[in-house]
Amino acid sequence: MGDADRRLVAVGAQVKADFETQRTLLSFGEYLGLALENPRTFARNAAQYVKDVFDHFGTEMHEGPGGPVRHFKLFDLNLDGEGCVAGQDEVQNAIYRVIANFVRLGRINKLLLLHGPNGSAKSSIVAAIKRAMEVYSHKSEGALYRFNWIFPSDKTVRGSSLGFQDRKGSRAELPSFAHLEGEELDARLPCDLKDHPLLLVPRQERRAMLEACLGSQEGFSLSAYLLEGGLCHKCRQIYNALLGLYGGDYLKVLRHVQVERFYVDRRYQQAVVTVEPQVSVDAAYRQVTVDRSTANLPPALHSLTLFEPYGALVLASRGLVEYSDLLKRPVEAFKYLLGTTESAAVPLDQFVLHLDELFIASSNDKHVAAFKELPDFASFKGRIELIRVPYLRSYRVEQQIYDQTVTPRTVGRHVAPHTNRLAAMWAVLTRLKRPIVDRYSGELRDVVEDLSPLEKLKLYDHFEAPDRLSLHQAKELCARLKEIWHESDTYPRYEGGSGASAREVKTALFNAAQDPDRKCLTPQAVLSELRALCKDKSVYEFLQQEIIDGYHDHEEFVRLVEAEYLDLIDEEIRDSMGLISETQYKEMFERYILCVSHWVKGEKLRNRVTGEYERPSEAVMSEMEAVVMPPEENRAEFRRGLIAAVGAYKLDHPQEAVDYVRAFPELFRRLRDHYLDERKKTLRKNTERVLAYLAGDRKMLLPRDLVLVEDTLKAMRERHGYCDACAQEAILLLMKKRYAE
Ligand SMILES: Nc1ncnc2c1ncn2[C@@H]1O[C@H](COP(=O)(O)OP(=O)(O)OP(=O)(O)O)[C@@H](O)[C@H]1O
Ligand SMILES: [Mg+2]
Ligand SMILES: [Zn+2]
Ligand SMILES: [Zn+2]
Repeated sequence: MGDADRRLVAVGAQVKADFETQRTLLSFGEYLGLALENPRTFARNAAQYVKDVFDHFGTEMHEGPGGPVRHFKLFDLNLDGEGCVAGQDEVQNAIYRVIANFVRLGRINKLLLLHGPNGSAKSSIVAAIKRAMEVYSHKSEGALYRFNWIFPSDKTVRGSSLGFQDRKGSRAELPSFAHLEGEELDARLPCDLKDHPLLLVPRQERRAMLEACLGSQEGFSLSAYLLEGGLCHKCRQIYNALLGLYGGDYLKVLRHVQVERFYVDRRYQQAVVTVEPQVSVDAAYRQVTVDRSTANLPPALHSLTLFEPYGALVLASRGLVEYSDLLKRPVEAFKYLLGTTESAAVPLDQFVLHLDELFIASSNDKHVAAFKELPDFASFKGRIELIRVPYLRSYRVEQQIYDQTVTPRTVGRHVAPHTNRLAAMWAVLTRLKRPIVDRYSGELRDVVEDLSPLEKLKLYDHFEAPDRLSLHQAKELCARLKEIWHESDTYPRYEGGSGASAREVKTALFNAAQDPDRKCLTPQAVLSELRALCKDKSVYEFLQQEIIDGYHDHEEFVRLVEAEYLDLIDEEIRDSMGLISETQYKEMFERYILCVSHWVKGEKLRNRVTGEYERPSEAVMSEMEAVVMPPEENRAEFRRGLIAAVGAYKLDHPQEAVDYVRAFPELFRRLRDHYLDERKKTLRKNTERVLAYLAGDRKMLLPRDLVLVEDTLKAMRERHGYCDACAQEAILLLMKKRYAE
């Protein structure tokens, strides 16, 4: 056997194994046996099923600006590269709450309407739920069953007892045609609605049976669908005809039942269906046409006119139907749907369709606002659960969206450090609203009044107050963060309801990646895309917002983000060149304070090198004072003043280590400025060398400098993720913007 053949045989074996484990066919007796063993899993309606999907994947707690919030891990599933849903924990919880209510109530009586600005992940959230349902339906605890009507051929029935054997070949106690195949069969009629097999048990007996085995199960409430539901119109007709045929022998009717496991499948629209706004028919029926299968029905069934329902609502039965942009349809087109959700039934001309499915719709805020103006709205209101899906307001979470879609693989070039982060910062800045000052009083009011968009951005992201605030103010601000976060929740123009969408920013990122003058996708390329976007006021509605105290100033935000970028590369480039960094200032200053405190007390200090105790070094102290002390001050007084200030700080903050940057912001500013000059000189020199090297002029460099340059680039690459091309661009930018003469 050739290699290819062998491989094919292996594939064949696998396919067969999968087929056998996955496509489980059962007689009704076999099914009922399983169901009674594990009624909790078998007797679920669609709401219970979807709730179990949420629970199956588990939860974890996430820290957010509004406090700790439960996150459902099903939204993290990243299958077939479709990406996961970043953030939106509050929405996840709202959806879960509504579904849990349906479960408690035992019926699905409302439509979930996800609404928000355009591109806020409404569809992505539903897609994630559908994906998770698919995965879960392949697990044993997620097994779903439907049934078919089986009609054996005359030959089978007359010729042997074949039709009455169970799978193992032994004589079955309850004979069934369920395991007949191919030639042995004349017809196999599936139930289009995927009726729950337990509906084959007459209502009263079913109720008694389910209550007997589930009555004592804590936390499980039987749904109306299973307690009160009945077979669909077609199945009922077949059932009645067979019952007549067998003179009322129920067990003989059940022989014709073949229970089949099915799987949630988006592609084949099994139990999950998305309806686009232009689709006009959600459910209808047609007469079953006479073909081989119906012609071969037993004579008793020939007189029946069978109708089979079809349409999205039918396909979605036992699962979930999603109406995308529901309110884009004329009201008349979805009015009936609201009635449908309430009663779980769709009235068609000839009969009523009873459904077991979740109804989730999405719409943008504008359409919802218009909908609320309709006279009918009052009567619709009680049948809809409105769930708001705003834009994200934490840039680190927003960045996750870009990180999963904007990668070297998708853009075809290196993605320079910080690119996605800066895009995310800009996106979130465009969404922030000026705090509503009147809600606060006292000192906090002033603090909130002066909170700039960039400060708010950082507050939301890492719960950190601006450095300019006193410790007391900072504490107060952080303590009230939750209020600030929820401030506009009930307003029609809430925070997260407008601004740039992830979709728009993603487009800017992909456009930036096309820049013919660059090798990498860099922040500069993205910033110039965003600058261009800001000019398109007629295209993007959010650009037309009025600027209020720096909020909604989208062009300015591009500059702010660029300044953030410069800070980042300043630090990284300096670090890569081995120049002094922020933390080093702090260490120097701490050493200085240590000397001064001993000096003030007249104590000796242990020399770190020799281990000897000696007087604090006057040289160390005056070196620092030359930089930080105003020239007219008295040196001794200055030192005593410092130590007194440290003492006062400790009294105010007994629990914390002294944060010198906060305690002495002015001194640190002087320190920074002083080193800036020095740094400029060195940086300029180093930069010239790096640029010469990258331009290919290596011969111009001394061997010593060559090593230096190579070390710098290595550090940029290994510590910070730059390739030579984007390192060059970053260094040039930093030189031009910060260290030009
Ligand atoms: N939280 C998020 N996580 C992952 N992707 C997101 C998120 N928010 C937005 N996106 C991305 O933004 C784009 C729009 O998302 P989606 O289609 O889900 O939004 P929508 O609210 O349904 O939009 P529309 O209002 O146009 O129907 C998608 O490409 C999606 O990947
Ligand atoms: Mg959508
Ligand atoms: Zn049916
Ligand atoms: Zn690069």
